[in-house]
Amino acid sequence: MTQSDFVVVANRLPVDWVADDAGGGAWRTSPGGLVTALDPVMRQAKGAWVGWVGQPELELDPFDFEGVHLIPVRLSADDVENYYEGFSNDTIWPLYHDVISPPRYRRVWWESYVAVNERFAQAAAAAAAPGGTVWVQDYQLQLVPKLLREARPDLTIGYFHHIPFPAYGLYSQLPWRRQVLEGLLGADVIGFQRVADAGNFARAVRRQLRFETKASGIRVPQEDGSVRIALAKAFPISIDAATYVEMAERPDIRARAAEIRESLGNPKRILLGVDRLDYTKGIRHRLKAFGELIQDQRLSVEDVTLVQVASPSRERVQAYIELRDEIELTVTRINGDHDTLGHSAIRYLHQGFPREEMVALYLAADVMLVTALRDGMNLVAKEYVASRADNRGVLVLSEFAGAIDELGSALRVNPHDIGALKDTIMRAIEMPKAEQGRRMRALRKKVIENDVARWSSSFLEALDAVGRAGR
Ligand code: G6P
Repeated sequence: MTQSDFVVVANRLPVDWVADDAGGGAWRTSPGGLVTALDPVMRQAKGAWVGWVGQPELELDPFDFEGVHLIPVRLSADDVENYYEGFSNDTIWPLYHDVISPPRYRRVWWESYVAVNERFAQAAAAAAAPGGTVWVQDYQLQLVPKLLREARPDLTIGYFHHIPFPAYGLYSQLPWRRQVLEGLLGADVIGFQRVADAGNFARAVRRQLRFETKASGIRVPQEDGSVRIALAKAFPISIDAATYVEMAERPDIRARAAEIRESLGNPKRILLGVDRLDYTKGIRHRLKAFGELIQDQRLSVEDVTLVQVASPSRERVQAYIELRDEIELTVTRINGDHDTLGHSAIRYLHQGFPREEMVALYLAADVMLVTALRDGMNLVAKEYVASRADNRGVLVLSEFAGAIDELGSALRVNPHDIGALKDTIMRAIEMPKAEQGRRMRALRKKVIENDVARWSSSFLEALDAVGRAGR
């Protein structure tokens, strides 16, 4: 079996199987910055990627796709239910997003999480060449760093946490809080989105494990009595900004943006929300504020339309089923109360779209609403900014999204404060062009400078430095 010097381990492989009408199909790279960011590193190091193909019970041999060696991990229907939908998305996800939805602590889910993490760790241990580097991604695989270190002490191990790490008072609810911290501390570098997340993690480590921390370093005692230093620090993730800039200049995409405006009846202002249909995104708060603005007659459906793209997500998890019902009832009520035959208050799309269509929507939108109640980063905010090469448009950004740390020139809002949210939406709608330009230029500078290539290289440099120190 060939082994690689660089291995990525993530819950999902970076490809989707697209079935055709003839009963066959083909692999296609799934859209997302992570794949793009790692592509050069992957090709150079003949890298491998360990992950799930996204369907239960599918057993596939490793295969090469566009220069990357893909190693599928099989998940049974039970694994999907207990490890993925259960522990990952009904325990960790709500707990780490400040218990917006109550987390459920079920022992069978935890057992499955442990078993599946072991399977991922074994696959990674088999795939990595002696002295190689393994980069583990996200909350579904928090136990992998420790398991991997036990199996392969020769490896340099990185972990990046794409979602928030909660304050200690919440984290301590987790019945397996020690095991999860120990799992993560198997990594040499543990990356977080925000300085605050890294701080919450270090505090949990001090309180639960009594390990000492100093600046970003955590002193992890080893069995032989020595001490290993693990680094816990912020590396804010970003997007492949250049691709968005290029797409925004394409004549076909600009024409599509004009067509979108036209098809909405050329309203004076288009507001846009783009989210996975998830309770962390604050979609209800956004709809409430918008509905009240129409009710109060501060806005009219003739002049303003809200386009809400809510892409389907985790559709078998109860909290998501309930959220969908709630959102769809709210949209229907607002539209029923206020639509005219010619104009709709809200155009709601429970669908996913290709990147080209998203950029056309960004270009068509005068105001982008990102009102997350808690979000690790929020890449939609960055995509909107990168697409606005015309320096127009206003970003309304929640202070509970990681992106606010870099995007301070957005209109900052607390989405729980509906009154303030309404006023901020009005301010965005009425913002003079000169102010839009000033703010957008500052935002674009940040996003273009700190793109996803910069993110991965700064993480991998930190990891390499630790690796070299350890050798
Ligand atoms: C978030 C997580 C990712 C996850 C994605 C989609 O962005 O940080 O790890 O892949 O949501 O969720 P899904 O459950 O469909 O993989």
